[in-house]
Amino acid sequence: MKTVKVQQPTRLQDFALQPTSRYKLESILDLTLPFPDNGICGIVLYGLYGTGKTTLANLLPGLIDTAKSDPNAQNTKPSLIVDTTQPYFDVHACAQGQNGTQLTQLIQTRTQLVSFNNSGYHFVILDEVDNLTEAAQAGLKAIMNKPQVIFIMTTNNLDKIDNGIENRSVVIDMNMPPVGNWLPILRRVYTDAQLTPPSDAALEQVVAAGRGSARSIFTDVVMAANQAKKAGQTGVSNVANLRS
Ligand SMILES: Nc1ncnc2c1ncn2[C@@H]1O[C@H](COP(=O)(O)OP(=O)(O)O)[C@@H](O)[C@H]1O
Ligand SMILES: [Mg+2]
Repeated sequence: MKTVKVQQPTRLQDFALQPTSRYKLESILDLTLPFPDNGICGIVLYGLYGTGKTTLANLLPGLIDTAKSDPNAQNTKPSLIVDTTQPYFDVHACAQGQNGTQLTQLIQTRTQLVSFNNSGYHFVILDEVDNLTEAAQAGLKAIMNKPQVIFIMTTNNLDKIDNGIENRSVVIDMNMPPVGNWLPILRRVYTDAQLTPPSDAALEQVVAAGRGSARSIFTDVVMAANQAKKAGQTGVSNVANLRS
């Protein structure tokens, strides 16, 4: 049996997001929000486990670089922009007890030279940035004034982020998007697998049970799709909440 797979997201439209979060990200991509500018050079994605922060963080350099440098991008709806420029970016998975001075030094060195990305920007991803000590975050804050560097950060806990870092960033809440925003994304999993999706009510129940975790929600949705395939059915009527 060919098992059902969730397509990895490639554009903002593939994410269930709160309207305000979507608006901020779209405004960066349609260039109406001057970014980086006015001392704002970071994006902080915050939310519970499994809400898609790391996935989105890794997509953003490509989307931003494309928005800023591909002339076609500004004729495209921001939610539909895909990465056409494949910029280079550094990903730092922040660990507890990590040497903050070394990390800051590393970022300094890596962003010192002119960027070869089409947009001319360096992209630095700091995943789970709240793992850095206060001192390390202070060091990071100090280098957030470098021109031509965009910092993309994720955290489970906004309270554990240095106020100065937060103040230099566009802050995006990844928690609990409205249930309705999930429906087209989940229906697509079934239609991609040539299955008739379950009712909206059934899908809404999965989303509610998953409490906003993409990880939990997709697992339940894919399992129901696989069960239907295995049983030779053409559609899905029920989704069990295994994960949630
Ligand atoms: N919009 C999405 N479409 C498809 N899969 C997604 C989406 N968002 C997240 N995922 C998947 O959900 C899982 C959890 O996402 P992740 O980015 O690791 O969450 P977080 O960093 O918030 O804990 C990953 O397997 C990821 O591929
Ligand atoms: Mg993560």
